[in-house]
Amino acid sequence: MATSPVPEAAISEVLQVLQKARGYIDGEALRLAASLTGLSPVKVEELCTFYSLVLREPVGTHVLRICDSIACHMAGAQDILAQARQHSGVDLGEVSRSGKLTVIPHVCMGLCDRAPALMVDDQALGPVDTQALTQLLAQLEA
Ligand code: FES
Repeated sequence: MATSPVPEAAISEVLQVLQKARGYIDGEALRLAASLTGLSPVKVEELCTFYSLVLREPVGTHVLRICDSIACHMAGAQDILAQARQHSGVDLGEVSRSGKLTVIPHVCMGLCDRAPALMVDDQALGPVDTQALTQLLAQLEA
């Protein structure tokens, strides 16, 4: 496969495709991304750290990213995070016992006007209150 003229420009798309196919970017996916773009594995690792949507650990069927940056924090994101964490029964970033959910705190997602905002897989939601979160969590675990 031909390499991109500007490999860094392609890496985010490559990582997205691999993550969608595999659920997260493990070592094999990282090496494959490096091979496809012509970047070194170390550079790809560095870029994975930069892109906050890249998952480096196994996750549940659904990933719930809850923004904890300033606008969302001021709008009650800590309560939303605590409720989601309690519901999952495991620490943030871990897979729930059912295997269906991983709750991750996230930096600003550009949804500040919808604070407190979150993303369920690729879908942006907000503002979300504790009642709406209860319903959402039930749907995700169904
Ligand atoms: Fe939460 Fe921007 S601060 S989306």
